[in-house]
Amino acid sequence: MSCTIIVGGFFGDEGKGKIVAHIAQEDHPSIISRGGVGPNAGHTVVVGEKEYGVRMIPSGFVYPDARLFIGTGVLVNPRILEQEIEQLDVRHRIFLDKRCGIIEEDHIARDKGDVYLSKKIGTTGSGCGPANSDRVMRVSRLAKDVPELQEFLIDVPLELNTAIDKGETVLLEGTQGFGISLYYGTYPFVTSKDTSASQIAADNGVGPTRIDDVVVVFKAYPTRVGEGPFSTEMSLVESDNMGIQEFGTVTHRQRRIGKWDGGMARYSAMINGCTQAAITGIDKIDKDCFGVKEYGKLSKIAKDFLKQAEEDIGSPITLISTGPELSQIIDIRGEI
Ligand code: GTP
Ligand code: IMP
Ligand code: MG
Repeated sequence: MSCTIIVGGFFGDEGKGKIVAHIAQEDHPSIISRGGVGPNAGHTVVVGEKEYGVRMIPSGFVYPDARLFIGTGVLVNPRILEQEIEQLDVRHRIFLDKRCGIIEEDHIARDKGDVYLSKKIGTTGSGCGPANSDRVMRVSRLAKDVPELQEFLIDVPLELNTAIDKGETVLLEGTQGFGISLYYGTYPFVTSKDTSASQIAADNGVGPTRIDDVVVVFKAYPTRVGEGPFSTEMSLVESDNMGIQEFGTVTHRQRRIGKWDGGMARYSAMINGCTQAAITGIDKIDKDCFGVKEYGKLSKIAKDFLKQAEEDIGSPITLISTGPELSQIIDIRGEI
């Protein structure tokens, strides 16, 4: 019974969606609550032949018995929320905090129409930056001001803290990644809020003393979308030759690919207060590891990589993802 935060350790798109979905299936939380910026995020969850790309609903939706929350700090686009509620059939179990900030059409127009934001920073065009800016200027509408959201509104911190008091299992789901944090990332090439574990706790109104575990998700080959420095970036030719190509869930832009960055992993683990790490994309280190579900069946190349990564991170790697599908994972959390 615990409260766990899951966050991204590199530049976002580390595969948090898959990791959250797996933990939810295994640990049976009563609540999965989303923190982070808003619908600039796209979490991918692949279950069997079906692929979902969620921007508002927590990725843990695949576990049917959890209530799904959107935390106070998160920005909500009511149109995207409604589409996902319909598509995923979660109307009976989705709730959002009455104080969530609202993304208006004007925010999207300002995000896409501003050359500095859209070209120099390379934002997702989802309106998050302008909406957070209005929230700071105290002119934003909140969820409680939107008639069509009334049926979903609750006090998210009160529900979460009550569940924790009762000893229930709760997951707090982060979005984006450490390298694009407003505070700790490569400013100004960052998103409009901090993305570290402390922020995800604050987004949900759960105090630091109530968090038991922080799982930081890293990908074997980090990626970055949009502009900004990326010290271990490979050329497109190099990554293409290695058979590594990724496209964004929200903007469909091609993701820049880099090599493992041990220094960044360590610094990010420190600021996130990492207790356990997850590594995705081990099948990209060695194709023979695709779909492997037992640690003992990983190749020496993969095990050597994991040993080095664990030293860099400074915390145990307890989740090893070997492919995009939900069941392609090695979970050794019970063994530490
Ligand atoms: P943000 O919240 O937007 O930062 O995204 P995210 O961390 O949830 O990651 P996202 O789903 O955007 O990107 C991860 C991509 O890697 C998706 O296409 C996943 O299906 C895929 N993926 C996840 N784990 C693995 C893995 O172990 N191997 C491979 N090959 N792909 C994976
Ligand atoms: P914004 O958050 O749309 O303002 O975009 C600012 C920067 O953060 C851009 O480089 C985006 O590509 C990046 N970004 C925002 N959200 C995500 C995400 O969920 N995954 C990866 N990159 C993101
Ligand atoms: Mg993503």
